[in-house]
Amino acid sequence: MQLSFSTALATLAAVFAAATPAAAACAEASRFGDVIVSPTSLSPGDTFTITANFTCAAQLGVNPQYTDYYIEVPVNNNGHEPPILLARRTLDPNSPLFDQFTVQLPYSYYFNASYVVMLDTTYPVTGTDGSSYSVVGGVETPITIL
Ligand SMILES: *[C@@H]1O[C@H](CO)[C@@H](O)[C@H](O)[C@H]1NC(C)=O
Ligand SMILES: *[C@@H]1O[C@H](CO)[C@@H](O)[C@H](O)[C@H]1NC(C)=O
Repeated sequence: MQLSFSTALATLAAVFAAATPAAAACAEASRFGDVIVSPTSLSPGDTFTITANFTCAAQLGVNPQYTDYYIEVPVNNNGHEPPILLARRTLDPNSPLFDQFTVQLPYSYYFNASYVVMLDTTYPVTGTDGSSYSVVGGVETPITIL
């Protein structure tokens, strides 16, 4: 789908208008989790920290069952860069809306490309007959690989 710029602006304005009354309102962009990667400039072998907060996701109806983290090239992929799995996480039942862990950037072959850390959040939804099934939503955080 191609949104025109004015449509996108109108949508943004509507989002802000809707978000203004309640200071704690969650942005739609937080739907699959708020992710912080630190640091964001990395070389192979570097250790870095990923922090994920699902407070807003839960308020928007997304309660994670599993969370998978990948390094990906979402745009202009050269066709030879499959997503690299960084971690598969199950949230702690005592802290189901927050996760923090460290990982090492794998010694893969990296190119001059726009990399992101992709979080794929798997969560349950209710089907037409009331039964539960799982769907996946993703959120990207840009990183630089040197
Ligand atoms: C998670 O996000 C919520 C909403 O933005 C915020 O209020 C809360 O402090 C965050 N939790 C942590 C542990 O950072
Ligand atoms: C990397 O890609 C950017 C954008 O395409 C380009 O401007 C830059 O010259 C490239 N660097 C190298 C070392 O190829």
